[in-house]
Amino acid sequence: MIEKLLTTDDARKLSREEIYELHKKHGNSTFIDLLQQLGFDKKVVSADGLLLRYDDGSEALDFISGFGSVPFGHENNPNILHPHPNAMAAALAYDLVQITPGKINKFFFFNDGARPNESAFKIARAYTGRKKILFAENAFHGRSLGTLSASSNKEYKDLFEPLVPGFESIPYNNINALEEKLKTKEFAALILEPIQGEAGVIIPGIGYIRSAEFLCKKYKTLFILDEVQTGFGRTGKMFAAEHDDTSPDIITMAKALGGGLAIIGAMGVTDEVYSAYAKKTRCLLDNSTFGGNYRSCETAIDSINRIVNENLVENARENGKYILEKLKPLKEKHKIIKDVRGEGLLIGVEFEKPAEGGLKNLLLSGIERISGNMIDREDVSALFAGRMLNEHGILIAFSLNNHYVARFEPPLIVTKEQIDKAVDAFDKVLEKYPSYSSLLNVTMKEYIGRKIKR
Ligand SMILES: Cc1ncc(COP(=O)(O)O)c(C=O)c1O
Repeated sequence: MIEKLLTTDDARKLSREEIYELHKKHGNSTFIDLLQQLGFDKKVVSADGLLLRYDDGSEALDFISGFGSVPFGHENNPNILHPHPNAMAAALAYDLVQITPGKINKFFFFNDGARPNESAFKIARAYTGRKKILFAENAFHGRSLGTLSASSNKEYKDLFEPLVPGFESIPYNNINALEEKLKTKEFAALILEPIQGEAGVIIPGIGYIRSAEFLCKKYKTLFILDEVQTGFGRTGKMFAAEHDDTSPDIITMAKALGGGLAIIGAMGVTDEVYSAYAKKTRCLLDNSTFGGNYRSCETAIDSINRIVNENLVENARENGKYILEKLKPLKEKHKIIKDVRGEGLLIGVEFEKPAEGGLKNLLLSGIERISGNMIDREDVSALFAGRMLNEHGILIAFSLNNHYVARFEPPLIVTKEQIDKAVDAFDKVLEKYPSYSSLLNVTMKEYIGRKIKR
């Protein structure tokens, strides 16, 4: 599968020529060409304050300081030094090319998960000359203005209107609806999550993602796969695209890329798509001050190597099956559970919605008043999460775009014993609080108790 990854030690040993060759092949090659032509293609061997020492024996004083981001000068391996792209970013781009699906061959680095998606929209518009972007209902791609435009969650959007024009939605997992839109040939790109995380772990039917790719090709629309949450083994494959044997034109990633230590996101594109920026006048359109900084890239390389060397993708696959098998019977046992689903270690438990009207609703609205509307009738999974934490010491979460879905999303290193503990705790909480009113009552009682104490 994966031939060979570069390690951080390999990266440190790269010669100046190798660094620039890798950047040219797997990074922003036009920018590298420009640096080479201007004579900036140097390798820093040591640094101290403003002083940079190069591999050819020459020296320089840095009067740029990362365009204002290096107040204390440099240490041995400068972290932010834009005129000399570093060995770690070169090696990380190489490693990502080895593990990403399809023809993705060039990487841009950023500092969260929203920004790679923003950049994906930009490069898709630049490449196709079309303006519109298609996204799926209940998708989550970030909280910046552009990525919110690719969201149907009014709560997250309304306050910030007007958002970016040209964004339209289709129902997820519906190939006919997708083709209807793509047929118009007005769309620069379709963006999809291979599994919708924040929508409540929505797993599309087999073939949906693949067919989406096929239709995008047919109508010359770029296919952006957002693997920010699903990437790096989370779903039991290195990337969730592999479940449906899919090759996107653009892939976005963040979260686990930094191994939980570095803050880093990335957008990968095919050489063909990169051509949209392959002009001198365009080569800086998607750079970012911190994108590709030495330390984040170094940590990301370590993290990818660790995921591979410790077989954490397999662990996620195996333990994902295990937790799903343990959670599924709870659906038969507890009426409040509507569905249990998941892929790898991205698991969702969906609760039934409380019935409209009647005593339950009265109780719920009373609770809303007491809590000052902080908790409302939708926060079912959050209430369960509160019980899990306070009665059993287990952290779980709700889903941003579907508060009826509780998410189990442990680190890839989770053990079967820890899974047993979490599922056992969940079973006990469900047994103890078989109705929403009992759950709300105890939560509010404790809250009021804590308030009085204070
Ligand atoms: C699929 C997906 N895309 C994008 C993002 C946004 O990432 P960030 O919060 O780092 O901007 C998230 C965050 O949860 C996500 O799940």
